[in-house]
Amino acid sequence: MLFLALESSCDETSAAVFNSDLQILSNVVASQTELHARFGGVVPEIASRAHVRNLLPVVEEALERANIALNQIGCVAVHNTPGLVGALLISVSAAKMFALALGVPLVAVNHVHSHIYAARIAAGRDIFPCVGLVVSGGHTSLFQCDSALSLNLLGGTRDDAAGEAFDKVAAMLGLGFPGGPALEREARNGNPKAFAFPRSFADNERLEFSFSGVKTSVLYACHGFNVSKGTPPPSGQKRADLAASFQEAVVDVLALKCLQALRKSKFKRLAVGGGVSANLRLRQKLEEMAAKEDVELFIPPLNLCTDNAAMAALAVEKWKLGEFAADDLDAEPNFA
Ligand code: KG4
Ligand code: ZN
Repeated sequence: MLFLALESSCDETSAAVFNSDLQILSNVVASQTELHARFGGVVPEIASRAHVRNLLPVVEEALERANIALNQIGCVAVHNTPGLVGALLISVSAAKMFALALGVPLVAVNHVHSHIYAARIAAGRDIFPCVGLVVSGGHTSLFQCDSALSLNLLGGTRDDAAGEAFDKVAAMLGLGFPGGPALEREARNGNPKAFAFPRSFADNERLEFSFSGVKTSVLYACHGFNVSKGTPPPSGQKRADLAASFQEAVVDVLALKCLQALRKSKFKRLAVGGGVSANLRLRQKLEEMAAKEDVELFIPPLNLCTDNAAMAALAVEKWKLGEFAADDLDAEPNFA
């Protein structure tokens, strides 16, 4: 059974072809980074318009790379929540039309749940039950995952998502957009102990995150308390030290809260997904923690960490249960 999946929740337009054995035959991603870079963040209307332009070419390429014809598709899958509503609507509408035209079922899946399922796809075997951490530009959420489709939110962020904090601090340091990868590169030359940035909720068991404090601390460490518009970003060793110390503070709390969630749930498996899980320092910290705690760690390869349509293979689980989307399926921007 072949599936065509579509993703357009934020600033990547993606189409993938996979089969019901979770083999990924193609996973094409058109990034809009260049369109948004000069604004320092994703502009929703620009994102939607780019999805309209990119979607069909991306689908055509996904079919071509998988070496199949459109009429061989037996089910269409789409992420309909959460995300930018105008962006989600593009792939939701297109998926409905593909399903109708082909006379095949449509399955809707949650983008955040799919980020965890990416670890299942990469593992090539069952990883549930597990603790799941999704760390992306829009989310920092810990889940108790009893199964692929039964996820209970243990806690999330009270303000910025981890990726958002990486992007904003990178902008403060003059590192450009998207900031996560650039900040990680800068941090390689810095001392992670140079600045003692705060680790929110580290002294208690609350499974929550907050990154606004560390962000403000970086701002004050850059410029003191007299920040005015146009102050140039720090440079040289100071910039590298700020980047390394910020990254260390963020990955410390992420690893600590995973540990607390593992102990609370008594699960011995941890699955991590979302763009920030591409961060090598985070991977290293989680590997150390997992080895010490005798926990199995599942983190997908980089192309399955950032937004993509192949992770929507979570739809295979719903398809097996006959959980198809209704004709009036809508895009749901808020986290469900
Ligand atoms: O999952 P994703 O592609 O999109 C969302 O659903 O948000 O995540 C994008 C986020 C951005 O904030 C980006 O800066 C961050 O992931 N990111 C990273 C790294 N690569 C991407 N953050 C830290 N280190 C990285 N290497
Ligand atoms: Zn995402």
